[in-house]
Parts: sequence; structure tokens; C-alpha cells
Amino acid sequence: MPKDWFEWHDLYQTQDVLQQRLEIVQKYISDSLDAAPKGTIQVVSACSGDGRDLLGVLANHPRAKDVRARLVELNPQLAERGKQAIAQLGLADQIEFINGDATLTASFAGAVPADIAIVCGIFGNLPDEEVLQQLIRNLPYFLKTGGFALWTRGHRDGVNYSERVRQIFQENQFTEVDFQLTATGNMGVGRHRFEGQTLAAPIDEQFFVFTGTPDKIGLIVSSP
Ligand SMILES: C[S@@+](CC[C@H](N)C(=O)[O-])C[C@H]1O[C@@H](n2cnc3c(N)ncnc32)[C@H](O)[C@@H]1O
Repeated sequence: MPKDWFEWHDLYQTQDVLQQRLEIVQKYISDSLDAAPKGTIQVVSACSGDGRDLLGVLANHPRAKDVRARLVELNPQLAERGKQAIAQLGLADQIEFINGDATLTASFAGAVPADIAIVCGIFGNLPDEEVLQQLIRNLPYFLKTGGFALWTRGHRDGVNYSERVRQIFQENQFTEVDFQLTATGNMGVGRHRFEGQTLAAPIDEQFFVFTGTPDKIGLIVSSP
């Protein structure tokens, strides 16, 4: 059982649900890059892990050189690995990897509003639905009109948590573009387009609280 989020990332090598989730997230990132108008494509990723979802796509995508991104991750080892991957891709002048607190809107100042906001591996680690609502309510600060939010949500004990996530997005001026369950059936991955007006300032200085711990097997296998 992993003891920290760095070890948790090793599960990508063995867990079907994580491998399938990554495949879908990367397809949504790639589709969002394809859909972006000519010019710079701004991307932000909160709680980005080692950034393998975005960086894996940029390794081959024809729009890679148009991307400007900021990834924010608390674990220093993951941040280091992400920075190394960025250097290997030759993208260090356009992709920032911040070892910092992604729950603070200030961590994204200067990098928003974005065309793509990646909030994967977060929703299953929030304390309650109120915080999920708060996070989604703040996304208009992070996104341009027409920008995409990409998210994941695990299901557990037969509860389809993704359904509520999809409703909350709809209640906050987002249109669902894609939604898919992993073949394992217990992980939802969504892509929603923001149809409202970008907020010039965030609603909250801290827009969510991350309470998940990688020691809880339930969180590891089915929630992130
Ligand atoms: C379930 S993992 C998801 C990682 C990545 N997004 C993915 O899908 O592979 C959650 C990540 O959130 C990070 N994290 C937890 N609290 C954080 C915070 N306050 N700020 C930034 N990252 C945080 C953890 O270190 C961990 O890497």
C-alpha cells in the first residue's frame, strides 16, 4: 500500500482503472488542443501529480509548441519528476511546474484564464459536496469562455458519484462535451465547456480543501 502520493503514482503500472483513466484524460486533452483556435493555448493543472497526463500528450501533439502551462503539485518528488520530463521534452521555456499549494487561487495568478483546466484526481479527495460545489463555482476564474474543465471521479460502494459532479457542472454554466466511464466501470472522466463570463478575480482565496490520504485503500483503488 503506498504511503505517499509519490508511491501512489506507481499504481499506474498495475491498476487497470488508473491506466484506463489516464487514456481517457489524455484523449480529452488532445481533443481540447485540437479544438483550440490558432495561437497560444493556455493550460493549468491543479494537483497535477507528475504531470504525466498533459506531458504525455505534449510529447506527440502537433500543437505542443503553442501550449503555455502551469502545473501545481505539493509533493516535491513529483514536482521534480515533472520538471525533468518537461526538460526532456524541450518545453522548459513554456511549461512551468510549481511545487506549491494548488488549493490557493494565488498559485495560478498570471496563468489564468486558461483554455484548459485539468482538475483530475481531486474530486474524490474533497471533504464533502459543499467543497466540490465551491471548487466548481470558482472555475470561471480559471477558464476563458469556451475553455474546457477536465475532471475524474471514482465510484465506490455502488455509488455513482460522477452523476452529481455532472449536475453541478450544469448548474454552473458548463456544458458537457464528453463523459466516459472506464472499462472497469468505477471511474468517471468528464470534459465540460465553460459557457459563462470569465471572472476577473477569484471568489475564494482557497477554492478547495484536499483531505485525501493515499493510505486509505478505498481512495487508492476507486476514488481519485
Ligand atoms: C490522486 S493524485 C492525482 C495526481 C494527478 N492529477 C493524476 O491524475 O495522476 C492527487 C495529487 O494531489 C496532490 N496534492 C494534494 N494536496 C495538494 C495541494 N494542496 N496542492 C497541490 N497538490 C496537492 C498529491 O500530492 C497528489 O499528487
